[in-house]
Amino acid sequence: MFKFGKKFLDFEKNNRFIQRVLFLSIPTAFIFILLVAVDLMSMVMAIVSFTSIIIFNIILLFPITFEMQQVKKYIENLASGQNVEDYNMKLSEKDSQAIVEAVNAMHSFWAQKNDILEAQTISDTAVLDSLPDPIMMIDRSGNILGANLSARTLFGKNITNKNVDKLFNSNNFIEAVNRVLKKESTSENLIFYVKQPKSQKLYAHIKQLPWLSKGRAVAVISIYDMTKALKIEKMQSDFVANASHELRTPLAIISGFIETLQTSAHDDEKARDHFLAIMKDQAEYMSALIENLLSLSRIELNQDQRPSEKADVEKLIDEVKLALDHKAQEREMNIVVEKEAHLPEITADKAQVKQIIQNLTDNALKYGTAKTDITISVHRANHVPPSKSYKVAEGEALAISVNNKGHKISPEDLARLTERFFRLQEHKDLNIKGTGLGLSIAKQIILRHRGNLTVSSTTYQGTTFTIYLPVEQ
Ligand SMILES: Nc1ncnc2c1ncn2[C@@H]1O[C@H](COP(=O)(O)OP(=O)(O)O)[C@@H](O)[C@H]1O
Ligand SMILES: [Mg+2]
Repeated sequence: MFKFGKKFLDFEKNNRFIQRVLFLSIPTAFIFILLVAVDLMSMVMAIVSFTSIIIFNIILLFPITFEMQQVKKYIENLASGQNVEDYNMKLSEKDSQAIVEAVNAMHSFWAQKNDILEAQTISDTAVLDSLPDPIMMIDRSGNILGANLSARTLFGKNITNKNVDKLFNSNNFIEAVNRVLKKESTSENLIFYVKQPKSQKLYAHIKQLPWLSKGRAVAVISIYDMTKALKIEKMQSDFVANASHELRTPLAIISGFIETLQTSAHDDEKARDHFLAIMKDQAEYMSALIENLLSLSRIELNQDQRPSEKADVEKLIDEVKLALDHKAQEREMNIVVEKEAHLPEITADKAQVKQIIQNLTDNALKYGTAKTDITISVHRANHVPPSKSYKVAEGEALAISVNNKGHKISPEDLARLTERFFRLQEHKDLNIKGTGLGLSIAKQIILRHRGNLTVSSTTYQGTTFTIYLPVEQ
């Protein structure tokens, strides 16, 4: 009862509950006054009856009004995002219960919708951020409203405070954006050049957003950096030019000798034998060149595929030694193999690893000093030495070295050994057969295995090529 009274007092403070009850009782009061005035009821009787009506009214109306008040507070809490799960409400009125249930149903419906939207936004952002090219959204005045990770990295974190005309110092780009903003065109594609912060050739695609999107964004801009693609394109065309040049030289020699044999040397038997021998050499060179070019393009084709075979390096070395022992004898050289005990098998492309070992040993035989030893050694290494241009594999590795005695290679030449078609002048002068592609093939294979290649050359120790291949891929 006391509790009820306290509630009642509280309630009275901020509600006109009592006033409302009194107001509702005004017509009844009039009737009682009238009854007393015409002497149909005594004054005392009228006061007692009127007071009991008021008390009944209060008792009947209070619970529903009080519960309404509670429901109101509950909805307010819900709207302000507070946790309402342990909000203590004892509702006895059916109507208030029904209202609370309806509000709860509505609330969970919107909460679910909100969750879906939130998940969608997160996944949309993740997708946009994972794209390699910068993407931005702009409003009607060209202000940047949003930018993906790549754009934020390129233009800075505060890109969203900028106007799009501050991004590049290019009138063509600004005009193209304006054409889309003024709805003169629905999309624009252009290639433009910028000098700041670095010299770049860029491709931009500016697209008006469909009317359906209700937000402030009216257009999307995506930028593609063409500088790298151009560089690769140039490298490829240089390669084709080099390859054609290399093929044209022996072909010209062969054609020249054919003509000589058909004319001036037609009846000279001695000259004929000499020329035919040169032609055979050149034809062999051409076929080696084609073989190497094909090998290079085959390797590049599956460059992105991780090797998955198990390779026993010791066995591969033995096979190479067996294949080249005969060639070594011709130069009175000896192939010595040094292996550390208990070497692990590695995850690698067996044929490719054998190809590198064979290339390196073949080089040692060709360019090493005659009558000396060639040493192929293999041992464990803690890790692959890091490379400046790509990420090497982590973990244990095998180091396979091929050493030969010979002239010291100058540091400038050492740095260029893996360039395509590069050959040392002294070897060209000595007429040692080669295409200048063996080491670039080796480099490409090592790159695929995420290993590394090192070369050292000194007068006393000769030249040593070391391949590092990770044990696990
Ligand atoms: N072991 C080595 N000692 C000295 N020079 C080498 C050695 N290996 C390679 N070279 C030099 O590097 C050049 C490129 O080698 P490579 O790519 O295998 O092509 P190729 O052997 O067909 O000429 C060779 O022509 C040679 O001048
Ligand atoms: Mg070679």
